[in-house]
Amino acid sequence: MPLSLRLPRLSRCLPELGVTPRAPPVSPPSPAAASPPRAPRGLAEMPGPSPPAFLYDLLCRGGLRRLHELQLEGRARYGPVWKASFGPILTVHVAEAGLIEEVLRQEGEFPVRSHLSSWKDYRLHRGHGCGLLTAEGEEWQRLRRLLGRLLLRPRAAAGFAGPLSGVVGDLVRRLQRQRDRHPQQLVPDIAAEFYKFGLEGISAVLFSSRLGCLEPEVPGDTETFIRSINTMFVLTLLTMAMPKALHRLFPRPWQSFCDAWDYMFAFAKGHVERRVAEVAERGAAVGTCVTDQLSREKVPMKSILGNVTELLLAGVDTISSTLSWSLYELSRHPRVQEALHQELVAALATDCSPSATALAKVPLLRAVVKETLRLYPVIPANARVVPDRDIHVGDYLVPRQTLVTLCHYAVSRDGRLFPAPDSFVPERWLRRDGSRHPFGSLPFGLGKRSCVGRRLAELEMHLALAQILLRFEVRPEPGAARVRPMTRTLLVPDATINLQFLSR
Ligand code: HEM
Repeated sequence: MPLSLRLPRLSRCLPELGVTPRAPPVSPPSPAAASPPRAPRGLAEMPGPSPPAFLYDLLCRGGLRRLHELQLEGRARYGPVWKASFGPILTVHVAEAGLIEEVLRQEGEFPVRSHLSSWKDYRLHRGHGCGLLTAEGEEWQRLRRLLGRLLLRPRAAAGFAGPLSGVVGDLVRRLQRQRDRHPQQLVPDIAAEFYKFGLEGISAVLFSSRLGCLEPEVPGDTETFIRSINTMFVLTLLTMAMPKALHRLFPRPWQSFCDAWDYMFAFAKGHVERRVAEVAERGAAVGTCVTDQLSREKVPMKSILGNVTELLLAGVDTISSTLSWSLYELSRHPRVQEALHQELVAALATDCSPSATALAKVPLLRAVVKETLRLYPVIPANARVVPDRDIHVGDYLVPRQTLVTLCHYAVSRDGRLFPAPDSFVPERWLRRDGSRHPFGSLPFGLGKRSCVGRRLAELEMHLALAQILLRFEVRPEPGAARVRPMTRTLLVPDATINLQFLSR
């Protein structure tokens, strides 16, 4: 039966996001398929490590940094569905494309990603408003409709190409300056450069203003903002797993977590207030940045601040990590880099500042970003909690309110879906033979609660990669060791990536 007939609501989201719905490849029939239907099994029958063993893995064997690898190990050991407990949190892991599809199709009217309890606890504690990342229920739906209109519609996102191209120009000049300073033409710590780029880019979209992150002297407050995001992500899992009663006994993690959020909210507040004052001074709200549009829609200031803080946060590490891995892999695959360079030159021969429309003619560019996100999904595990009913996951009935972890890292490295799963092969995305499982690689999620910044992020990354590769040939640092991913809530490089930038 066609996907669209069975599941009208989710299938409506697929074309909007550029995914062609098609029937997934059929998995080999399990022995159970031939026998009469069995009653679903409960959590008690689900395999998984004992809570002390899992806690030991996490805390004593570096498991928190290796959560993405634990997905692979868990699937190899227990199969595609297993349970694990981390402190008070019990979670069901799901590590097969068809089962992820099954969960997402039961997510309900107001999908809940997870209780992200420490993020919400902080907002309650300080009286801050929620943004789209943390809002739930009807509040989330109202915000989603509004921000979806401002960010996700193709024309709305393309409207930000102008300001973003200016930021990309500054990025390229900064990379040139950094490598000119270095005897081996190296740009040290490329992720740090892309953090600044991410923050500058999202600020241009949110406030129509430039922060100066890509200037020779980087403003101190922007560096502190980036450090605060880092601290907050490092402490997210720990503060989620730590029962509140322990906060008094071990106050450091919760305190540092709150300090980091305080800084981010204060940073956002300063920029929002400055922008609102600027617009008021000019007498008319003519601006098109997100802050202007939220003000025009009469969104209360508390909610604007909650949203702007979360959008700032969402636009930095995601972009930095994906661009760093893209260049890292291209530097190690010179033939792919050369092919992409040639496509860029051909498509943009008459256009010295590539536009979104011109870049659409470079399919290999999109394929490189897709392949990068398949290998290094910046959100390696997403989650859903269905609050009001039990859901079917394979042979199991998972009780309402259970946190279900969607193991995207393990699925996008599943050799049955992606041959040579650990290799960087962007060409695989150019094949149109209908064999790809639509839930095999979902770096932006899928459905009503998927990434609202997807179009903006893709535009920003395509513009940046195109400009960089037109000007430089990027090579690995001579003699550098392999860099691997590590989990820090998000998936990030486990070591500094230094790259050589040779002028074309
Ligand atoms: C490489 C870039 C990015 C990746 C891979 C990414 C990935 C994701 C993922 C996996 C989710 C969760 C989706 C789900 O639960 O189904 C998400 C949500 C979200 N992202 Fe992104 N993201 C990226 C960039 C951005 C940017 C630049 C922004 C800011 C404009 C942004 C804003 C958000 C927001 C606000 C949500 C919450 C949406 C909601 O709950 O309705 N993201 N993102």
